[in-house]
Amino acid sequence: MQLQGKKIILGVTGSIAAYKSAFLIRLLVKEGATVKVVMTPLAKEFITPVTLATLSCNSVLSDFFSYDDGQWNSHVEMGIWADLFICAPASANTMAKMAQGICDNLLLTTYLSVRCPVMIAPAMDLDMFRHPATLNSMEILKSRGNIIVEPSTGELASGLSGKGRMEEPEIIVDNIISFFAGQADTKNTGNNFPEGKKVLVTAGPTHEPIDPVRYIGNQSSGKMGYAIAEELAERGVEVILVSGPVSVETRHQRIKVIKVKTAAGMHDECLKWFPGCNACIMAAAVADYTPVTTESRKLKRGSDNFSFEMKPTPDILRELGKIKKTDQILAGFALETDNEKENARKKLHNKNLDFIVLNSLQDEGACFHSETNKISIISPDGSAVDYPMKTKAGVAADIVSHLASLMIQKA
Ligand code: CTP
Repeated sequence: MQLQGKKIILGVTGSIAAYKSAFLIRLLVKEGATVKVVMTPLAKEFITPVTLATLSCNSVLSDFFSYDDGQWNSHVEMGIWADLFICAPASANTMAKMAQGICDNLLLTTYLSVRCPVMIAPAMDLDMFRHPATLNSMEILKSRGNIIVEPSTGELASGLSGKGRMEEPEIIVDNIISFFAGQADTKNTGNNFPEGKKVLVTAGPTHEPIDPVRYIGNQSSGKMGYAIAEELAERGVEVILVSGPVSVETRHQRIKVIKVKTAAGMHDECLKWFPGCNACIMAAAVADYTPVTTESRKLKRGSDNFSFEMKPTPDILRELGKIKKTDQILAGFALETDNEKENARKKLHNKNLDFIVLNSLQDEGACFHSETNKISIISPDGSAVDYPMKTKAGVAADIVSHLASLMIQKA
């Protein structure tokens, strides 16, 4: 019962994914939350108010007035009542209206009235999701502090496959639980960063050049490192983000992005910035080997087998571990396929880390291009905390909270 006593408004919009809101209500109620549902008129075409009212044990609101007795459904009272407003599924139309402040239905007037935090779980076709208009709405909503539960990638109602599936109710509930846990940390234990902290974060892959057009790289998308940088910046920390070649971006004012291509480039930037930082989280998937020579001209195709020599790259994290001062915190990632925790513990000691984040390739939904991740955080005493599957933003919040608690201990 991790949501005992929490008051949650669930906004449901017109989307095929509205059927998932029934499961979401059940899970929220099971965790002890009180749920009140507000639907857009179109949402009622996808799932009946009777179903949602029965599951939530509360009447469902959709109209400004009750047609039976003319009673006004007060969105203002609802807005004051709630601890969290979650819109799931959120259609492109509703997100666009939220971003612009349009309030032509009860869900939207409620959104404008609430004083509590807002979460939004989009659901739509892949082309609608990646349309600049939708991306722009999401940027506006995020910039106002609304939390987007990113949709996952997979089969869509249209029959197409891509990004736009509303996140599964279990994962949305995990996000809600971590959100309230994070709030409790911040409020009750002061688990926030001391003033004026600066953290170095690395993200993405490195590209090791073979010739002017070819390179050796890996599948890292950079999403995890960028999510960590954003979470730190949101909590008032100044961030130096040394990023390999990725397509994700950040425009947060407190994040200085330094783009690099190779392991050597990342090494130089990390050694330059680390001494001036209070901590470093190495989330980058740095290449372990690089070609001994880079051809200056494009290699021509031949008919014979072909090989070239590789040399090890510098182990950046290990070098930072050697120069780390007692008041600095150093964290790395470990991606293991077997003997996971044992190997991660070895890495932690070899590289002189304060903690290591283990992610496993064994877990479905925890791979490079996934929107979710499942981690364990391992400490120098060998203890491990296992976290459930979460969105990368949720995982970033857990990692950053762990770092914050270590910083408070050192302060
Ligand atoms: N790392 C680094 N420099 C490298 C390689 C890795 O700083 N040249 C960092 C990564 O950013 C990560 C950690 O080391 O935080 C562990 O990376 P990983 O590839 O799992 O470990 P390796 O030490 O390279 O060991 P192996 O690949 O053999 O498991």
